[in-house]
Amino acid sequence: MSLESKKLLDRTTQIRSDFPILDRKINGKRLAYLDNAASSQKPMQVISKINDLYSNYYANVHRGVHSLSMESTEAYESVREKVAKFINAGNINEIIFTKGTTDSINLFAQSWAKNNLKKGDRIVLSEIEHHANLVPWFMLRDEIGIELAFIPVLDDYTLDIEAAKKIINSNTRLVSISHISNSLGTIVPIKDIIDLAHHNNAIVLIDGAQSIPHQNMNVIDLDIDVLVFSAHKMLGPTGVGILWAKMDILKQCEPVIGGGDMISKVTFDGALWNDIPFRFEAGTPNIAGVIGFGEAIDYLNEINYIDLCNQSHVISEYTRNLLEEMEFVEILGPKDKLLRTSLFSFDIKNIHPHDVAQILDSEGVAVRAGHHCAQPTLNKFGFSSTVRASFYFYNNFEDANQLIESLQIVKKRFLQ
Ligand code: ALA
Repeated sequence: MSLESKKLLDRTTQIRSDFPILDRKINGKRLAYLDNAASSQKPMQVISKINDLYSNYYANVHRGVHSLSMESTEAYESVREKVAKFINAGNINEIIFTKGTTDSINLFAQSWAKNNLKKGDRIVLSEIEHHANLVPWFMLRDEIGIELAFIPVLDDYTLDIEAAKKIINSNTRLVSISHISNSLGTIVPIKDIIDLAHHNNAIVLIDGAQSIPHQNMNVIDLDIDVLVFSAHKMLGPTGVGILWAKMDILKQCEPVIGGGDMISKVTFDGALWNDIPFRFEAGTPNIAGVIGFGEAIDYLNEINYIDLCNQSHVISEYTRNLLEEMEFVEILGPKDKLLRTSLFSFDIKNIHPHDVAQILDSEGVAVRAGHHCAQPTLNKFGFSSTVRASFYFYNNFEDANQLIESLQIVKKRFLQ
């Protein structure tokens, strides 16, 4: 092991102490939390920040002239700036707070696509999308008659970029695509897709839910048009997501939810909209969630999360290699390790994934079992559900070994 890797491992040990839940025992065993693609755990810093807000300066935002409201508003709005810096957005007003990635995609479908597309216009998706990037578009197709086309997934679990060159055509107005598949772990070459889309004058929405927690995302360098992601997969609270879009695209969007805070003037005859982004954020927002998310971003920056995520990728690959040696396990996902992230799905023939996950839980190992909200993708490969292990930077080799040893117990229980 290189000195650099040793240092990173020591750092992981130190960082684990920031996450109180990692000390929990599950069924009398140490917790090996390998369900990070579903949601990450939270460090003490984020938990304390929310506690501090409610204990010391909580009030509604954007409304009061009293001190508490001004303090809360300042803390809340400062997060817009932190998010903008995190993704290198040029304008903080391009950051819209939502409830999560699903909410962001639904908002974009109803506010931009519904008002700018017409019957027969094409939206291109792929065959490795989460339901959140399928169902809103099915709803819109049924509402206004747009056409949906899918970039196929190949047998090697990667997208067919040659086919994409034909599918993304001059009729295409939007390409909406995941950066990383939550069910297969495939990394999509988004720059190629962005270039293809722009060549055809289409805009591109990137679902960064599974990528942004692990890597640097620079919306300007990549020339992304719309980016969506969730706070809760990157140490933040649940119920907070981001919709970022270039300002000229946001100017083409109509508000979807009406109410307080999204207006500049209301009479009995009608209303005028507030400025962007507030016109898309009706009602009292998730104040504590957003402020907690700001702390999560500070934390990620302070620990230099990219280096640590690279290390957790090494641990994920180590685990995957050991699984590959288990003849009773079938792993889904790209063979080329440069094309996969720190998660993998697997199946054990003749044992239901829920049974596997239950035995793993009895050994303290938390994984997700089921269709991972990607039913069409799994069905394409002949599965209705799988077991999924997903890693984050606080995972260590002990977690990996605990999963491997627990799978040997599954084998003994069901296959011998
Ligand atoms: N989208 C989350 C997952 O993949 C919930 O588990």
